[in-house]
Amino acid sequence: MNDSVALCIRSRRTVKDFTGEAVPRDLLAKWTELACWAPTHRMTQPWRFAVLDQAAIARLGIYLQAEPAIAAVPDPAKGAAKLAKLLERLPTLGALIHVVWERAASPEIDLEEHAAASAAVQNLLLAAHADGWAGFWSTNPALGHPLTSAWCGYPVNKFGFLGSIWLGKAKVIPPPLARVPASERVTWL
Ligand SMILES: Cc1cc2nc3c(=O)[nH]c(=O)nc-3n(C[C@H](O)[C@H](O)[C@H](O)COP(=O)(O)O)c2cc1C
Repeated sequence: MNDSVALCIRSRRTVKDFTGEAVPRDLLAKWTELACWAPTHRMTQPWRFAVLDQAAIARLGIYLQAEPAIAAVPDPAKGAAKLAKLLERLPTLGALIHVVWERAASPEIDLEEHAAASAAVQNLLLAAHADGWAGFWSTNPALGHPLTSAWCGYPVNKFGFLGSIWLGKAKVIPPPLARVPASERVTWL
């Protein structure tokens, strides 16, 4: 493996604190294009990306606030506080990408489509990191709500929610979380 790829994989971190700097559109186009190079069984290319710039993130925030059903997830007791925290953080993002995969009727194929779209997200995160930007793969319940997916243009009768990718310039880069040694996860036959 090329050492720069190894370094990129090892040094990528989940970052949740951003400076508020906008991600330029050409970089978002580059990263989503690289995401589309993920492997995909039968070349179905099931991933879909709704790219939100800061203006769109602001519109999404207004929508989330206006929908009582969204404040009720994951449950009515915790939802409002969780949503309030999310609404505080959204304006700090440089961009957000809502990622879904196109559902397949067969459960076996659907699982493969989910896997392919996950590989695309990792491409995207690594591409952003390689360009000096940071990302966070969030499955926040308000962002994964069916109404949010529909708002992004991907209704859940056809698309599954894979994640909401927060992007921006890192304010704080957390230390790496220890990995279980590969020797404990790998068997050699
Ligand atoms: C499918 C998926 C969903 C995730 N959802 C969340 C989330 O909702 N909240 C969160 O704090 N981290 C979430 N993460 C990020 C992980 O917490 C993070 O990758 C892990 O802590 C390792 O940190 P690192 O990415 O810096 O190596 C998610 C990661 C994946 C792959």
